[in-house]
Amino acid sequence: MPRVNNMIMPRVDDMRYAKIDLPVAQVRRYLEPGPIVLVSSAWRGERNIMTMGWHTVMEFTPALVGCVIAAGNHSFELIRRSRECVINLPTVDLTDAAVGIGNCCGAEIDKFAKFALTAAPARNVKAPLIAECHANFECKLKDDALVERYNFFIFEVVKAHVARRPKYPRTLHYTGDGVFMVSGKIISRRGKFRPDML
Ligand SMILES: Cc1cc2nc3c(=O)[nH]c(=O)nc-3n(C[C@H](O)[C@H](O)[C@H](O)COP(=O)(O)O)c2cc1C
Repeated sequence: MPRVNNMIMPRVDDMRYAKIDLPVAQVRRYLEPGPIVLVSSAWRGERNIMTMGWHTVMEFTPALVGCVIAAGNHSFELIRRSRECVINLPTVDLTDAAVGIGNCCGAEIDKFAKFALTAAPARNVKAPLIAECHANFECKLKDDALVERYNFFIFEVVKAHVARRPKYPRTLHYTGDGVFMVSGKIISRRGKFRPDML
């Protein structure tokens, strides 16, 4: 039997489990969770929007969300200086806007005007909500310890606005290469969960 790291590995001959090598730079295709979000920001009279896929929930209470916002993005400076943003959740009908917003720079244009989106006032932050999105999460920067090294911002969601319907919106999930998956089929295993895991 072959050895890997000094462990004897059983040979997997079953073709159902056959795999090919993937260049590691492409793992994002499988691991990027989504949903794609639109991050709105404001600083000293300027407002902007960027598209973002690299985010992760970190804690329920306080509601912490970690986000990678590349330093080259115009949004990076607006968010770093204002220490606030809004994470807006677009649905499939906003696909072209999400792609367009993520492929142009807000230093030269007002993306709200260019993509015909409505900026609505937020309750607890100066950054605007995007009214057309299914949900809007007002965020304040909780921890910037990893910003310089990894462009990783840890935000606390301080106010959440969500549409009543649909309960499960058709969100966008990026797989790289310009291709998205759209969330759709819902399955429940609620009965198999420990109550404290729900
Ligand atoms: C589908 C998609 C996902 C993206 N995800 C991220 C991301 O997670 N982090 C990031 O820094 N940029 C991401 N981008 C790129 C930014 O949205 C893009 O650089 C944008 O032009 C930045 O706008 P700004 O310069 O006006 O801030 C993504 C773009 C697309 C199209």
